[in-house]
Amino acid sequence: MDKRSLGESSIQELVKACQDAKLHAYCPYSHFRVGAALLTDDDRLFTGCNVENSSYGLSICAERTAIVKAVSEGCRKFKAIAVACDMREKTVTPCGACRQFLSEFGSDWTVVLTKPDLSYTCLSVSDLLPHHFSAKDLEAERV
Ligand code: THU
Repeated sequence: MDKRSLGESSIQELVKACQDAKLHAYCPYSHFRVGAALLTDDDRLFTGCNVENSSYGLSICAERTAIVKAVSEGCRKFKAIAVACDMREKTVTPCGACRQFLSEFGSDWTVVLTKPDLSYTCLSVSDLLPHHFSAKDLEAERV
């Protein structure tokens, strides 16, 4: 889904929501706040932030927090996710683990990468992670 099919007002809502979600970030170790806002197929909105842990590897990114919240509420089809951080000049870009996590729920939906000034860039999940590992690979014939 590209920017036009999503609609400018939906994008603006997501951009604002991910900036607000960033305010809840729990990041005492990195001090790098990230927020995400996820729009489901049936127009529900789930937000998320990064939640870090003193055992660093247990930390979860904002994108995955939002997805986990949505899936645990019964939503598995998504239109878009917007992501925010505090970098002034650059949009945040999801980590590899989050790209794979997003890909689990389809390749053809929108990722809105934002900046604090509310400017943004839209990409698809497959733009971010082409050739992702998927359930089909688990079903492929093996030696
Ligand atoms: N982080 C996210 O939440 N999302 C991203 O897209 C990039 C990184 C978090 C993980 C960690 O809490 C902090 O940012 C620094 O890596």
